[in-house]
Amino acid sequence: MAIHFDEKNQLFHLQGGQISYVIQIIEGYPVHIYWGNRLKAQAFSSSDLDVWEYSGALQPSQERLGLVQLRERSSFHPNPIPDKKFISLDTLAQEYPQYGSSDMRQPAYQVQLANGSRLSELKYKSHLVLPGKPYLEGLPATYTESDQEAETLVLKMVDETAGLIVHLMYTVFANHNAVARSARFENVSGQIIQLEKAASAALDLADCNYELISLWGAHERERHVQRQLLSHGTIRLESRRGSSSHQMNPFAVLTRPTTTEQQGEAFGISLVYSGNFCIETEVDAFDMTRLTVGINDFEFGWTLKPGENFQTPEAVFVYSNQGIGGMSRTYHNLYRARLCRGPWRDEVRPILINNWEATYFDFDAEKLEAIAHTASDLGIELFVLDDGWFGHRDNDNSSLGDWQVNTRKLPRGLRDLGDRVNEIGMQFGIWVEPEMVSIDSELYREHPDWCLHVPGRRRSQARNQLILDLTRQEVIDFLFEALSRVFLSAPISYVKWDMNRNFSEAGSAELSVGQQKEVAHRYILGLYQLMERLVTRFPHILFESCSGGGGRFDPGMLYYMPQTWTSDNSDAVERLKIQYGTSLVYPLSTMGAHVSAVPNHQVHRMTSLEMRGNVAMSGNFGFELDLTILSDEERETIKQQTTDYKRIRSLVQLGDQYRLLSPFDGNYSAWMIVSKDRREAVVYYFRTLSEPNPALRRLKLAGLDPELNYQINEGQGVYGGDWLMQLGWAVPLLKGDFTSTWFTLHAR
Ligand code: DGJ
Repeated sequence: MAIHFDEKNQLFHLQGGQISYVIQIIEGYPVHIYWGNRLKAQAFSSSDLDVWEYSGALQPSQERLGLVQLRERSSFHPNPIPDKKFISLDTLAQEYPQYGSSDMRQPAYQVQLANGSRLSELKYKSHLVLPGKPYLEGLPATYTESDQEAETLVLKMVDETAGLIVHLMYTVFANHNAVARSARFENVSGQIIQLEKAASAALDLADCNYELISLWGAHERERHVQRQLLSHGTIRLESRRGSSSHQMNPFAVLTRPTTTEQQGEAFGISLVYSGNFCIETEVDAFDMTRLTVGINDFEFGWTLKPGENFQTPEAVFVYSNQGIGGMSRTYHNLYRARLCRGPWRDEVRPILINNWEATYFDFDAEKLEAIAHTASDLGIELFVLDDGWFGHRDNDNSSLGDWQVNTRKLPRGLRDLGDRVNEIGMQFGIWVEPEMVSIDSELYREHPDWCLHVPGRRRSQARNQLILDLTRQEVIDFLFEALSRVFLSAPISYVKWDMNRNFSEAGSAELSVGQQKEVAHRYILGLYQLMERLVTRFPHILFESCSGGGGRFDPGMLYYMPQTWTSDNSDAVERLKIQYGTSLVYPLSTMGAHVSAVPNHQVHRMTSLEMRGNVAMSGNFGFELDLTILSDEERETIKQQTTDYKRIRSLVQLGDQYRLLSPFDGNYSAWMIVSKDRREAVVYYFRTLSEPNPALRRLKLAGLDPELNYQINEGQGVYGGDWLMQLGWAVPLLKGDFTSTWFTLHAR
């Protein structure tokens, strides 16, 4: 890992892991040169260095500036320097393009200055190379634990006329093929600057021979994989819902059309943010691809007072020449180890039972204890009390905001229940939905102004609830105290943090007229502040985030809460797609996956307990059904599943995942997880529908050491890693719909 600066040629070469990222300053503009496989530190031998200088016309009107090819275009592409007509901001491959000063493509940022002008032009002024990686004030981000792990380039970009400085930050890591980028705006103008757009990063790629992969969806159908050809014009992947959303994840991949799961180039873009975002591609008339990522500029605004700073969230770019799978494994390693934090980061996660689908709101202490007792007998380690334990909440009509125990349901209180759960050897966890308020609640009656709203407008409810205004410090402080009281009121070692609606009428009574466009981002900053304070105060608690399942499954939340409830859809067949898509960027250790009852409550499908178990064991394993009404046979199966999972869970949660067959391509799905030393592996294989007279199938494994021999399960043969990967494992005959099998590999 190194950041090289070639002063003569104004060239920055960032090397990290196996990748290079190259920027050249041309006439003060940072020009994107390269992002891909690692290159030698120097582009040319010293005798060739003069090619960096203006080399004279290659053809009339064509120039080569160092590594950049340029040519004069027609008058429709204005030139910033009259006697260098081959330079046009409209055709230059830029790193952080501006608006209004002749680049007609999507800008990375937009401002309105005190004189009403909306023009800006940033020029390179100076730079710094810092060891390690600085924290981003108030925002989640990847981090380092020692300065040897990363190096950071900060380009100081200045618009003298506007009195605006933008610090562009680039971090490369010693052990990850990733570049983390963000921007910090600084107002030195002495007057207010209105920010209208502030992307985390942008760059112009030299061609457009790409396909774009995105993760779209809906509630109970999150993160389905979509792959489309990039074509001229713009594609926006975005959320305007106040949270990162079920509908589109803050993540995208540019691949070459020939890129597969195991081969070819993949350029990943992931935004460490939980609110409205936008990832945009724009292919221009000369086949260049502009990529912009950051807070969604739709309905965004920020008043930057003199002397103030605005820090954008971080975008994490990952390059892989080993296909989409290689990209995913880089994200998994980086996010698991250097985005997630706290004591739970490196710990295997407990197997849990959650009472939601077992009882919904209809429970009492006896029922919960009965479930917990059975769970403990079956080898389950954590009991989670879901919604309905507080206020007078018997359905979703009331009580959000009133975080006191419902003594009608739990007359001996939370501590008593927690103690009893602990006594039978299980940990105790609880559900909260702190960001919300019910109209029917003490909190709303006392503070009707504490929700997001616009005076004179309807307050639209969703699931009978409104959203608390987390732009207000007093609301954040109230929640910190109220939640602290709950977390101290019982032996709580796990918290499920839910959030069950999107924004509407998103105004704040606290903010000035001119600041109403700040609400969505300020809300997220308030949420981050609240979570930071809570995880600092309660480091022993394992937090799992949730938003109607996976409506806020994003890297921002993972910084505070190292796992997420992947989806409210617990049907094993639907989960194949959801978990497969989620794994494109998020590690298995972050995915909650539970066995639930059949007929499944979301899609009413019947699947075997074995299939449900195998899907759920491919993540953070848990259960969500009434264990007290199981048959003896089901109890035995579950006992076996918990025993099996404990045997393989450190592999599942900490190993390298290889996706083998995609549920989006047909009837078969498969993935495997390989230990870091490649001596252990576990393989899961699923078939959705039965086939008459089926073909014989082999499954080619991946990620094994070709030199090693592997024992399949206990006594089911020993095969060379190379054979298993090249010839493949012979799939046994499976019977019926929704079937699956799994096996372990152990190097001998
Ligand atoms: C939505 C969550 O996704 C569910 O798991 C459950 O916790 C309910 N909320 C409770 O209201």
